[in-house]
Amino acid sequence: MNDYLYNENINLSALITAQPQLLLTLSHFGIPMGFGDKTIAQVCAEHGVDPQFFLLICEVYSNDSYIPSLATIKSTPMQGLVPYLLRSHDYYLNRRLPHIAHHLEKIASMLPSRTGKAIKQFFNAYVEEVREHFVHEETTVYPHISHLLSGNQRDKFKIKDFLASHGNLDDKLSDLVQIIFKYLPGSKNSPSKIEGAGGSMTSSLPGSKNSPSKIEGAGGSMTSSLPGSKNSPSKIEGAGGSMTSSLPGSKSSPSKIEGAGGSMTGDSNDDAIDMIFDILQLSLDLRKHALIEDKILGPYVKLLEKSSQR
Ligand SMILES: [Fe+2]
Ligand SMILES: [Fe+2]
Repeated sequence: MNDYLYNENINLSALITAQPQLLLTLSHFGIPMGFGDKTIAQVCAEHGVDPQFFLLICEVYSNDSYIPSLATIKSTPMQGLVPYLLRSHDYYLNRRLPHIAHHLEKIASMLPSRTGKAIKQFFNAYVEEVREHFVHEETTVYPHISHLLSGNQRDKFKIKDFLASHGNLDDKLSDLVQIIFKYLPGSKNSPSKIEGAGGSMTSSLPGSKNSPSKIEGAGGSMTSSLPGSKNSPSKIEGAGGSMTSSLPGSKSSPSKIEGAGGSMTGDSNDDAIDMIFDILQLSLDLRKHALIEDKILGPYVKLLEKSSQR
């Protein structure tokens, strides 16, 4: 018996209304809109999703502090787990990130060309990092599960090694949002305001678990050390000072970002709000995706590995 907040007899529409962020999971389950007033059990039956698995994902997704017990992991049918994760990867790479890139293209065109170019470079490097993260999972972790289930374990791969180095993809989106806030035209945090002569400021970006970032005044620099970063530093400069950021996964040579003048009005302002909203929403969804891999996939594969050694 589990201790879930929800059960399969409630309407799916009532669940989504109570926990709107769960709307994002429906496409990952392969459940289309148009479920009317059907219960979770009915919708799951129609789309071949195990209701206990559905509820387990919803629980992890809506409650960050929830850690499923080993008994819950053992008793939940997991056939849907890899398809769920694969659909999520596809959704991020082929829908959400291109959608944000489209917004970013519009916003970048309003900034000084070097600023727009540098922000796009940051974003493109991030997309590459996400792609590499997913390819690694799809070519090592997920096949490992199939090998264990078929009793044909050919690899030396161990899930504990994957979990030990499983990085967060959402921290860098928080960094991107901070950069966009700073460099949008008319921002009070434009570089000239941040960088006073000779002064300095230390900031830790929200949501990031990383070491502190440093922003210094004229003649100084802002250095941001991001966890899991393999990249070369990029340089973002404003009037009289500079910000050096260790951009995640970036293979690009240093770029300079200049402050923008003017201010955003009307449609362009709405575009910026839409884009930031989309980035924050993707960030949340990616964080939940990582929690599902850490709290469900990890213990599940450990159990499989244990039983394969018997
Ligand atoms: Fe993943
Ligand atoms: Fe992952």
